[in-house]
Amino acid sequence: MKVLFIGDIVGSIGREMVFDHIARLKRKYKADVVIANGENAASGRGITKAIFDDLLRSGVDVVTMGNHTWDQKEIYDFIDETDYLIRPANFSDEAPGKGMTIITKNGITLSVINLHGRTFLPPHSDPFEKAEGLIEEARKISPLIFVDFHAEATSEKIAMGWHLDGKASVVVGTHTHVQTADDRILPGGTAYLTDAGMTGPYDEILGMKKEDVIYRFRTNLPVRFEVPKRGRGQLNGLFVELNDQTGKAVAIERIMINEDHRFEA
Ligand SMILES: [Fe+2]
Repeated sequence: MKVLFIGDIVGSIGREMVFDHIARLKRKYKADVVIANGENAASGRGITKAIFDDLLRSGVDVVTMGNHTWDQKEIYDFIDETDYLIRPANFSDEAPGKGMTIITKNGITLSVINLHGRTFLPPHSDPFEKAEGLIEEARKISPLIFVDFHAEATSEKIAMGWHLDGKASVVVGTHTHVQTADDRILPGGTAYLTDAGMTGPYDEILGMKKEDVIYRFRTNLPVRFEVPKRGRGQLNGLFVELNDQTGKAVAIERIMINEDHRFEA
């Protein structure tokens, strides 16, 4: 199975980058399934039903979330109505939605799991233990398992990669919005990347207007960060190919598209 992952989609510029490139990317990588992190898709804060529907219509199959999951209140109304929007599995048991879903494409079944880190982020239950439980469950259905670990610390993400090596097919980090260059296949067969990077404004700071961020750094005064609606875009992501019988990764490639790194068919 060939899997395409799109890193944190930020605002309208990020969504437009997805709409502009998804067909070409699917063709280039012969992708069977497309997963995208959409927790910043609505102006940097959460996701709406309309945006979720647009992403699915454009060719995204599963949307994962993170610390901004609940920012758009309307998510409470639709997260339980779809199988293709998941939020971190180690959120409270009382949280709506679910942290794992199963998708079958071209006769191959893949489980997708979303987890939340707890270093430099609000404390949730142990993502390492949660991952083990969910993977045990997922393995009864298929050995192909994709994990989006939404976390701040590189160390926590690398720890998750090693913790799940040989258990998950893919462990990819999200949240920091800067793509790391450590893509590799771990010895047990798990494709790993500390952070996939961000799909959104190219000339700002992690997707937020740079003037506001610089002002906050210089003054320590409160300022509301905003996602610009105009400007150059970037698309960051990851491609992995999995062995359909074993679930082990056989190929991994980072995707970075911007005006300095142009899309090559
Ligand atoms: Fe995040």
